[in-house]
Amino acid sequence: MSEHIIVERRGAVQLIRMNRPDKKNAITSAMYASMTKALVDGDADDEVRAHLILGVPGIFSAGNDVADFMAVAMGDDGPLDAFGFLIALARLQKPLVSGVDGIAVGIGTTINLHCDLTFATPRTEFRTPFVDLGLVPEAGSSLIAPMVLGRQNAFALLALGEGLSAEKAKAAGLIYDVVPEEELEATAFAAAERIAQKPPQALKIARDLILGDREVLVARIREEGEHFRERLKSDEARNAFMAFMSRKKG
Ligand code: COA
Repeated sequence: MSEHIIVERRGAVQLIRMNRPDKKNAITSAMYASMTKALVDGDADDEVRAHLILGVPGIFSAGNDVADFMAVAMGDDGPLDAFGFLIALARLQKPLVSGVDGIAVGIGTTINLHCDLTFATPRTEFRTPFVDLGLVPEAGSSLIAPMVLGRQNAFALLALGEGLSAEKAKAAGLIYDVVPEEELEATAFAAAERIAQKPPQALKIARDLILGDREVLVARIREEGEHFRERLKSDEARNAFMAFMSRKKG
């Protein structure tokens, strides 16, 4: 289990915190595996009624760890823990709330497409530089983002890598609300607690109806994943990772 993921129980809310501030909460394989376990265990535990995912002040996540991407680019053909995490998100049985402050790049943005409520702060910017990295959208974002944002906003976000401010994300329906930094965690926790107090069976049916057939989403995640894995080994991607990893040298 990863030391960079802190899982704690507060009443009926399971809190999952990404805590790797020195690397801007870049998510490693071990971190994905820990978060997947927390989601699956929480879903199986009758005492957990809602999940809450948070980062640290100013940093939700800078996305997948680029060094892990590089390892795949250089020939590591092991399973990608990120995809296990994405499928766990898509099949999640209990509501998920997120609190996002500051940096939200790549999967730090697309996680929120799987949340029932996302609260973000005014300084948050959502950004997915997939194509600039020689990659393709993931997490089912190619399916969900056009539905939520409309085709052109989805193109700007997912293909052009344009940043989306918290205000614009709220106006577009990507997130539920924008709250001041100092209120973020309390607000997100209160929302999760409110969810946790609802009659669980009725809530589950309501949520399942809202989400529809999630196997369609899982199929898209897998389809994106096949392209993604292939793209990781492309020259476009390798060059982009190398540029990021060597940008501070010289
Ligand atoms: N993977 C691995 N390490 C990362 C990382 C990532 N995705 N994002 C940040 N880091 C590391 C940096 O390498 C740096 O490490 P170092 O201090 O050992 O050199 C540290 O986190 C701080 O990052 P830095 O770039 O100095 O912070 P910043 O505030 O100037 O910029 C970002 C923050 C998020 C804009 C910038 O780090 C960035 O663009 N990260 C990559 C985002 C990305 O492409 N993610 C993949 C999406 S699919």
